[in-house]
Amino acid sequence: MTSVSDDELRMLADYVYSLTGIQLDADKRYLVEGRLEPLLSDSPRSTYAELCARAKAGDHRLQRAIVDAISTHETSFFRDRKVFELLSHKIFPEFFGTDTKRPMSIWSAACSTGQEAYTVGMVLESILFKLEDVRVRILGTDISSFAVDAANRGLYLKSEIERGLSNREVEKYFTEVKGMYRVRDDLRSLCQFRVDNLLSPAARAPHDIILCRNVLIYFGDKEKKTVLDTLTARLKPDGILLVGATESILRFSPKLVRRDFRGAVYYQLR
Ligand SMILES: C[S@@+](CC[C@H](N)C(=O)[O-])C[C@H]1O[C@@H](n2cnc3c(N)ncnc32)[C@H](O)[C@@H]1O
Repeated sequence: MTSVSDDELRMLADYVYSLTGIQLDADKRYLVEGRLEPLLSDSPRSTYAELCARAKAGDHRLQRAIVDAISTHETSFFRDRKVFELLSHKIFPEFFGTDTKRPMSIWSAACSTGQEAYTVGMVLESILFKLEDVRVRILGTDISSFAVDAANRGLYLKSEIERGLSNREVEKYFTEVKGMYRVRDDLRSLCQFRVDNLLSPAARAPHDIILCRNVLIYFGDKEKKTVLDTLTARLKPDGILLVGATESILRFSPKLVRRDFRGAVYYQLR
């Protein structure tokens, strides 16, 4: 393993922070070495300092590769079931009432490889029964182009679908393709995925529901506040914001009020 010097680690940490807002502390040396070393061997240069310099000089492929390697894409279908029970028992029934064609806009921010967005689609189907005529759009965004490509494909390994889904759910929502599992077409057509940085996101109309789970933990206080300002500005007046179970956000956003439903926490504008 090529070890990273203290100076190189600082240089890389500053660079990753400027691109993503992710804070790499000195104790993340193992992560830098483990994840960036494969890029060294692809490169004609051989040190981390030179790798960083090439990316900074405008090598976009390398920039993307560094972001993909450093960001943690851990996710699964139905990650934290309580959140999806909140959607199926409260938020969706109250929103749609008897009008199943009411338009709804959902944003899965920092969506990783798409499992969260597709899970929302599965829950939606359990409430609305047929997806054909619904006017729901689920937008997934992530800074990692690798993750967004995977989300767009909607094709998963057996090990990925076994995490979080029962056999019945696998049969219901996936088609087997050469030993892999593709999300059903009608479910995929509800979802769109794009590369977008939460710290400088593209302009878009506000959403009814925003899920931004398990990403704030990687940011410092300043970035948390910036992201929460964006999320609150993108929430419709009665909209719902969902964050990760361990993420506490009220001190970063006085505009939000916390609510509970059967052990699941959600936020709304005051
Ligand atoms: C641990 S995953 C969480 C995935 C999903 N939300 C969940 O809870 O299962 C964190 C994701 O945040 C993305 N991410 C990190 N920094 C980001 C940024 N500045 N803008 C957008 N996405 C970011 C990473 O690429 C990664 O896919």
